[in-house]
Amino acid sequence: MYEQVSHSLLNEILIKLNPEIKQQELRYFYTRLGANFYAIYSLFHVLYGERNDFEEQALKLVETMARQYIARPEKLKQQDIEREKDHNWFLSQKWVGMALYTDGFASNLKGLHKKLYYFQELGINMIHIMPILQCPEGKSDGGYAVSDFRRVDNRIGRNEDLHALSEELQKRDILLTLDVVVNHTSNEHEWAKKARQGDKKYQDYYYLFDNREIPDMFEETMPEIFPETAPGNFTWNEEMQKWVMTVFNNFQWDLNYSNPAVFIEMLDIILFWSNQGADIIRLDAVAFLWKKIGSTCQNEREAHLILQLMKDCCQVTAPGVLFIAEAIVAPIEIIKYFGEDAINAKECEIAYNATFMALLWDAVATKNAKLLYQGLRSLPDKLERATWLNYVRCHDDIGLGFDDADIRAVGSEPHQHRKFLIDYYTGNYADSSARGLPFGHNHKTGDARISGSLASLTGLQAALQNNDSQQIDQAIKHILLLHSLILSFGGIPLLYYGDEIGTLNDCDFLNDEHKANDTRWTHRPKINWDKAELRHQSGSVESRIFNALKKMIAVRKEISAFADFNNREFIHVENPHLFVFTRFNLHLGSNGVLVVANFDAHPQYLDLNDPSIKSILCYGHTTDLYSGDSPAMFKDQLVIPPYHFYWLTDQK
Ligand code: GLC
Repeated sequence: MYEQVSHSLLNEILIKLNPEIKQQELRYFYTRLGANFYAIYSLFHVLYGERNDFEEQALKLVETMARQYIARPEKLKQQDIEREKDHNWFLSQKWVGMALYTDGFASNLKGLHKKLYYFQELGINMIHIMPILQCPEGKSDGGYAVSDFRRVDNRIGRNEDLHALSEELQKRDILLTLDVVVNHTSNEHEWAKKARQGDKKYQDYYYLFDNREIPDMFEETMPEIFPETAPGNFTWNEEMQKWVMTVFNNFQWDLNYSNPAVFIEMLDIILFWSNQGADIIRLDAVAFLWKKIGSTCQNEREAHLILQLMKDCCQVTAPGVLFIAEAIVAPIEIIKYFGEDAINAKECEIAYNATFMALLWDAVATKNAKLLYQGLRSLPDKLERATWLNYVRCHDDIGLGFDDADIRAVGSEPHQHRKFLIDYYTGNYADSSARGLPFGHNHKTGDARISGSLASLTGLQAALQNNDSQQIDQAIKHILLLHSLILSFGGIPLLYYGDEIGTLNDCDFLNDEHKANDTRWTHRPKINWDKAELRHQSGSVESRIFNALKKMIAVRKEISAFADFNNREFIHVENPHLFVFTRFNLHLGSNGVLVVANFDAHPQYLDLNDPSIKSILCYGHTTDLYSGDSPAMFKDQLVIPPYHFYWLTDQK
């Protein structure tokens, strides 16, 4: 859009640009900058317009984008252009991801490089390598307390190893996802060290206070994220004689985004890793980016503006790179991280579907899908050109973050219901074989979350201990049922390393003083590759899970209705044990798919006379795309075995 004020500023900036930049051939950069500048200017102005040095900061911002554009390898620039032309590329059903810790999966980056065959065997073509940047020994929060944003942690490799890996991934058409921890730094980061030494410039990078007056005001409305291990949101620093805002652990210092220098530094880092070959950047803890007294300091309007600005700037320098929003917040808030009132994602193209994840765990425990259906129906449609990251487990705990109103709507009392779920998964419920551990228990509010590996939460651990083959069957069915849903829902399914071979809880973390009080480590395993080999041994647990997932992934990739174009309809069914939705195909003449999941221990029946179901199953030749078989029917009713799923289609 042409707008006088922003364009005259742009002209001034272009005149003042450093001569080194001016000399370069930057055709694509300038066209994109022109196209996005009004938006960039407007956002930057809302955030920092009051400052006397606003224009100087705007010049720095443009120079940062230009320098990273110049540094961007030619191959990636070419890829940007291809992705601009094929802008829906990431909505395709062809993508299937896996998240992993490098050291847990393969010791180090070189080891990971040697294991690429494993991803290809399973069908994974998007890898999220959990944080790999330099962290202090011990106080690292699993890599989320970064002390050097531009260096791979020397325990897992060097920047060159990552570069080599990214080149290889590109050749194999596997996407690379990397983390940028945008909300905070380690207290060992150079900026924090300088702040401690009294450097005013770097003190302004953080939220520091001389006394408790302001911190106490913040505390009135801020929840605690790690109430057991890091209560409160501020930490006293003896050296500076100041309170530091530390929302997560006391060694993670929150960055102050009301300072434009912080924004520009972090943008530079995002672009730096984009230039190292990241296709997707996972932006950690984005809900926390703006702090305001009197609020929870989550989901503030300015946090969204910062993300929009990051996106607009990234589109100028590296438009082929996507963002994932890691915002594990209330259902109605998560969806806003795509950006509102738009078709294209204005903030992050991808967001963790934490609501779906938590609701799936609800359905497993209750053996019914009422809340799952209700919770998903309450969500507004997401933007057209944005997609979910659908997952069952990840490196974090399971928070029961669904909406109280939805719990009430299905006839339960929220507090009691959550208590039941916590008890169910942490082994305090007689009828449960789950072996989870509580996480983040808040004595003041009674809240708690759940840790545990997928296999242990679905009963495989207990079943193996009891040597009970029926229980083993049941746990495997759950593992497959849950995956069948994340693979068909619409979005990018993100498997979690180890789940594909039924990895159980790992209690080793209890022997490490830095991990012992954080139960999330129970589900951050070291892969036992001897056990993984058992995937080739027919009938083993590993083989049953791995090969079923492998087949599911292969089938998913063939089903065009599984691409994500908001082409899903949830079907209300009378039977509460069933979760049913259709995925229709946008191409006329192509078949849709009816997805049916039975969460109950008994066979369930689905009446096929529902008009939406009939529109998919209209010819009477129903086939399950996963097994290739025709499902059992009884008097116009589909019979769904216990803990079973169907991906049904109909052919003339
Ligand atoms: C994100 C990470 C989590 C970490 C937190 C603080 O939520 O997923 O593991 O503890 O950020 O960085």
